Amino acid sequence: KYLLELGLTPECKQLISSLPAEKGWVANLLHQYQGFWHTTRQLQAVLTCQNHFQAQETDILLVTTPKSGTTWLKAIVFALTNRVQYPNTDNNHPLLSENPHILVPFLEYGLYIDSQVPNFTTFTSPRLFATHLPLVSLPESAKNSSCKLVYLCRNPKDTFVSLWHFTNKLRTKDMGSNSLEETFDKFIRGVSLYGPFWDHVLGYWKESLENPERVLFLKYEEMKEQPKLQLMKLAQFLGCPFSNEEETRGAVDGIQKLCSFENLSNLEVNKTGKLASGEEYKAFFRRGEVGDAKNHLTPQMIEKLDQITEQKLHGYGLKF
Ligand code: A3P
Repeated sequence: KYLLELGLTPECKQLISSLPAEKGWVANLLHQYQGFWHTTRQLQAVLTCQNHFQAQETDILLVTTPKSGTTWLKAIVFALTNRVQYPNTDNNHPLLSENPHILVPFLEYGLYIDSQVPNFTTFTSPRLFATHLPLVSLPESAKNSSCKLVYLCRNPKDTFVSLWHFTNKLRTKDMGSNSLEETFDKFIRGVSLYGPFWDHVLGYWKESLENPERVLFLKYEEMKEQPKLQLMKLAQFLGCPFSNEEETRGAVDGIQKLCSFENLSNLEVNKTGKLASGEEYKAFFRRGEVGDAKNHLTPQMIEKLDQITEQKLHGYGLKF
């Protein structure tokens, strides 16, 4: 009945019947497709997106695993690439009145959800899109075109804690909350939205080493520590470096402040608005800090996550 309500295509229904499934974190099931876990509704969107999306060379794709700082990255890249049109970050800037998820839509969550075929005529170049898709599942045109990919990752402990909080907010009162232990067990087995977390990160990390001009790999922790430096690196990578004149008149600081957690989370729009799908914008702004995981995880959980991270990523030179 649930599958019928979702209006799945016959192709998707048939695929689902052949895929491994597990109970999800919010409701219904997760399906493992091309090695990664998706909700039913999202899987349909992934298939539609894979069949339809035509990347252009000038496109910029922002890629993250959920809760790695997607909202922040969307705000930053929007502000960077639109700064000629919107040089003033204190007044009349779109980010002051609109949530970053509206300004930079998700491919599979927003544009292709429920088998919609999006209208791209309103997009101007460079088109900005976001996705949580793992590298292996990107639409062929995005894999093969020279469009730029910006990947933002976050240490798995804080990502897990953030995801646990977020998914509990999405559960109805009747469902109750998921316990930390139960979700932790799923996370370390890789059964989380777009998980396994480590495989997702590794796919883009390797690609960034092989094709550094195409994939920029950023870390949430480094963005928090040296926001200006990372902003400048990002602008350079996207082919719109800050000029000396911009630097002297404080353009980098302006964007950094505009997109900061303090600023965005306190804007009226982000305190009161919500997505068409129902999620309140404020759910995307919780603490925005590095290291919150230690306030929630037991020393054993921390040790376990560190151990998996070391085991999976260390050989590739990636550390958190
Ligand atoms: P916490 O739950 O640890 O606070 P996503 O945008 O991928 O859904 O990630 C959400 C996480 O990013 C949340 O982490 C949220 O608070 C944090 N975040 C949102 N906006 C931010 C910003 N401007 N700067 C830093 N962190 C931000």
